[in-house]
Amino acid sequence: MNLKGRSFLTLKDFTAEEIEYLLDLAAKLKADKKKGITGNSLKGKNIALIFEKPSTRTRCSFTIGCIDEGGHPEYLGKDDIQLGHKESVEDTARVLGRMFDGIEFRGFLQENVEKLAKYSGVPVWNGLTDDYHPTQILADMLTLREQFGQIKGLNFVFAGDGRNNMANSLMIGCTKLGVNCTILAPKALWPREDLVELCREYAKESGASLTITDDVEAVKGADCIYTDVWCSMGEEDKAAERVALLRPYQVNKELLDKTGKEKTVVLHCLPAVKGNEITEDVFEANADVIFDEAENRMHTIKAVMVATLGETE
Ligand code: CP
Ligand code: NVA
Repeated sequence: MNLKGRSFLTLKDFTAEEIEYLLDLAAKLKADKKKGITGNSLKGKNIALIFEKPSTRTRCSFTIGCIDEGGHPEYLGKDDIQLGHKESVEDTARVLGRMFDGIEFRGFLQENVEKLAKYSGVPVWNGLTDDYHPTQILADMLTLREQFGQIKGLNFVFAGDGRNNMANSLMIGCTKLGVNCTILAPKALWPREDLVELCREYAKESGASLTITDDVEAVKGADCIYTDVWCSMGEEDKAAERVALLRPYQVNKELLDKTGKEKTVVLHCLPAVKGNEITEDVFEANADVIFDEAENRMHTIKAVMVATLGETE
């Protein structure tokens, strides 16, 4: 599989085989790192890390992943550069493309990460936008693989804001990879119809099912229940409205009891607002796997950089 020179902007651009290849590579890089083996694949490569929004996991994953492979990361925070304020995204992209070999972008507009890729001429990786969070999905799927051996045919439920970046990207990732996907959310927060239609096509091809529902009984049979904050970055003013809408979809013991399964893994991309989308007891009972998932951000992000920019694998 050759992904050299490719950007990673949304999972829509990748086939199931390509996503699986990235998961295999991440698992290998993880096993190597546990043995104390790191690589040199990014030796001599300079990598820009643009963050318009804050980050713990994504920033650290790009930084450590890059350094582990011999590259040089450069953090560019929202007050450090002119992107989109004093200078157009197109111009910033053309400058960075002359100096850097790869660019990570976390920010608001999906359009901006796409412009960066178009105008920089180097691989650009989406570290989260309002619409998508594709690197997170790789970590989530790797974690499910570790838990269940294989992911095809698993029953996956996302409970929460069904139109946020996580719900969108999980819906794409699950339906491409043959994971039965349920988005459990109040009608007011259901995903965009055009994206649902696209994911229905992916599901048809992979043999997965896709269900959008506001009925909590839909968690019956779930192998995984996933949740995320009720207010994404930039939506802080919506807190009261979201709590009122989403309270019935909190991941708590009562919801978990409805799965009827002996094993249901709870995942969370983090950071979590305990007492809102997940109760403290459910979070702590699943902390080992949730922090495996957080660790897997690093191995999977490293895999994306190595596959698209690395000299060797
Ligand atoms: N899950 C995730 O993207 O975490 P950060 O916001 O800390 O990067
Ligand atoms: N939906 C969340 C994800 C954080 C990783 C946000 O955008 O803030």
